[in-house]
Amino acid sequence: MIYQIDTISHWLEYRDQIKNNKVGFVPTMGALHSGHLSLIKKSLSENEITIVSIFINNTQFNDQADLDNYPKTMEQDKILIESICSDSDNLILFTPTFTQMYPDNYTYKLTESERSLDLCGKDRPGHFDGVLTIVLKLFNLVKPTRAYFGEKDYQQLELIQNMVGALFLDVEIVPCPIVRDEQGLALSSRNKLLTATEKVMAQGLNKVLAQIEDEAEIAKRLGELGFEVDYVKKHNQRKYVAAKIGKVRLIDNMEARS
Ligand code: PAF
Repeated sequence: MIYQIDTISHWLEYRDQIKNNKVGFVPTMGALHSGHLSLIKKSLSENEITIVSIFINNTQFNDQADLDNYPKTMEQDKILIESICSDSDNLILFTPTFTQMYPDNYTYKLTESERSLDLCGKDRPGHFDGVLTIVLKLFNLVKPTRAYFGEKDYQQLELIQNMVGALFLDVEIVPCPIVRDEQGLALSSRNKLLTATEKVMAQGLNKVLAQIEDEAEIAKRLGELGFEVDYVKKHNQRKYVAAKIGKVRLIDNMEARS
């Protein structure tokens, strides 16, 4: 059985008892998949104690329908976590509520005013304010030695790395490679919302991104394949894409060749 803590007061008592340990932290919004499990395994191998949080962070959803549709699979998530933990592993599941995490009802927030407005920030106003605010709150509570983030959300990863530098936070950010399915589709909680036909279509996204370098050509090809493209953009030798299939918005990124 996983040890689950669902109140901040209980968590703080527990944190006090492990003050001399190396603590790894994997923040999630649940709907776990092999990508998350790879972060948890890495943390388990590098730290004495691993904290996994599951908290669906309302404030990073700019679209109520997206929040309503976001998969909520707590029981399944616990089974998945248990499946990769041996008895000796020290893993704590932290599942606070909105009221606990936002006693101020989100009147205080953290804003990055440059990079967060590009790419996913352009299409999703306020998204990264919500992400940075919750990650900062969680860092303040968990006080991790290391925190693990997937490269699928590359813009998020960079913003968090920069936040750590800007605010002098005492935590090492560990970037983890994208985990893909056998067809190269980047694993995402949102893939659970795709129908079988949409999933086959979605598997075209990474192939187009891998094959074509020119931004306009990538967008054109994706359009032909039935995607509604939000953006295709190169930045710092990396290609980024966000595109919808039906109502499901997918993102991917990879190193640019030119
Ligand atoms: O990547 C996610 O799942 C979320 O954005 C995060 C980092 C857990 C913050 O809510």
